[in-house]
Amino acid sequence: MAKKASAKSKRKTRWVCTACGATTSGWFGKCPHCEGWNTIEEEVMRPEAADRVVLHMDGREGRVVPSSLATVEADAMPRLSTAIPELDRVLGGGLVPGSVTLLGGAPGIGKSTLLLQACAGLAASGNAVLYASGEESVAQVASRAQRLGAAHDALLLMAETRSEAILDAAIASSPAVVVVDSIQTVYSDQQEGLPGNVSQIRSVTAQLVSHAKSRGVPVVIVGHVTKDGQLAGPRLLEHMVDAVLSFEGDEERATRMLRATKNRFGSTQELGVFEMSGEGLREIPNPSEAFLSERPEGAVGSCVTATLEGSRPLLLEVQALLGPSPGGSPRRTCVGADQARVAMLLAVLDRHANLFVLDQDVFVNVAGGLRLSEPAADLAVLLAIASSFRRQALPGSTVALGEVGLTGELRRVPRVEARLQEAVRLGFSRVVLPRLKSSLRIPGLELLEASTVGEAVEAAFGD
Ligand code: TYD
Ligand code: MG
Repeated sequence: MAKKASAKSKRKTRWVCTACGATTSGWFGKCPHCEGWNTIEEEVMRPEAADRVVLHMDGREGRVVPSSLATVEADAMPRLSTAIPELDRVLGGGLVPGSVTLLGGAPGIGKSTLLLQACAGLAASGNAVLYASGEESVAQVASRAQRLGAAHDALLLMAETRSEAILDAAIASSPAVVVVDSIQTVYSDQQEGLPGNVSQIRSVTAQLVSHAKSRGVPVVIVGHVTKDGQLAGPRLLEHMVDAVLSFEGDEERATRMLRATKNRFGSTQELGVFEMSGEGLREIPNPSEAFLSERPEGAVGSCVTATLEGSRPLLLEVQALLGPSPGGSPRRTCVGADQARVAMLLAVLDRHANLFVLDQDVFVNVAGGLRLSEPAADLAVLLAIASSFRRQALPGSTVALGEVGLTGELRRVPRVEARLQEAVRLGFSRVVLPRLKSSLRIPGLELLEASTVGEAVEAAFGD
């Protein structure tokens, strides 16, 4: 008791930015480090705060001797499969022992559903899983698990918000995987303040990281994302974990996309596509087909391109609509495409293809709610704009590939063959693309090579 009182009396506070984690000397309206507004919060420090992260896997205390890299045997890192191939692929091939993964997404997007289905997959292959929910009661989670067909003896559920209780249970039942849903609802006894504040999130995450690293157990943490797409809570949460997955999608659509925005054990390029159904999340192994399914044939202002999402080619439809601008400054509205890039393509069309589009209002949209992330999609955006301007549809089975430069030249794109194979698979028969280095023959596909934007427009419309 006396000890506790003296600890209390030594209690100190400090000021921490919830966005970048920097400490400041007092409260500021604007963080001097990251320049975020209204992000500084007071944090109460306790001398015995257990924020230390234990990294070594065998739980030894005491002197640690550094090892030379040449003598360390690299772990083959056998990964645990969740039996959901789309999720495994985004993780880089399954869950890595001792790793901490953060799954972020807006409330209601389907994070708990995805993890419950993943837990079922793990349990079915003989791995015990501890699923700690701070949001729903055991009965609620269980009834959902039953509905999803995820109920299994090896899936242990607990409704708990105290991190020490979760870790005690994890130590007692030694599961193969621990899931904590969500970090914003869990608190630690070691810290003051309400669940979800900076010091609580930091402390609980540190405890979970420590548990994962010292026992070699993968831990998955759910984190809610605020309306503007930031993970609620400090940015430093993302720094503390090994992988950050983000689960995205429109409220109006059933399509859900899973990406890694950080991954110490794999690529951040992979995309997993799901659909929310009455029986939980369904994988969409053929997203090109799904994204092109509603495409009207022979529509003016539409062009299909083949982008790469990680190891997988993906066919997307770019749409454009142009119209005379009533005011002096024409509007450029882009959904799924970069506005500055579109402005550049308009200037190139104007100068190098004799299509005088600069005084037009321009709207560009990528169908299916996806984003164009590569310059290889430039030519498709440009041809969609040209098609709308000329009020002439491209032949229905045309795909366009290529990066556009400021002098109107077309530049090559990586992994062109994989993209073309996907185009053929989906029934496309002609492709406009930059000149190839070596000749390429793909049965069923007419290759229209062009070195400039002008040539590409001619070839595409068959002028
Ligand atoms: P949930 O996984 O609870 O979201 P999160 O954990 O990200 O907050 O999913 C919530 C939504 O998913 C809910 O609005 C209903 C819908 N849903 C289905 O459509 N089908 C299902 O089988 C399940 C379990 C949920
Ligand atoms: Mg949930």
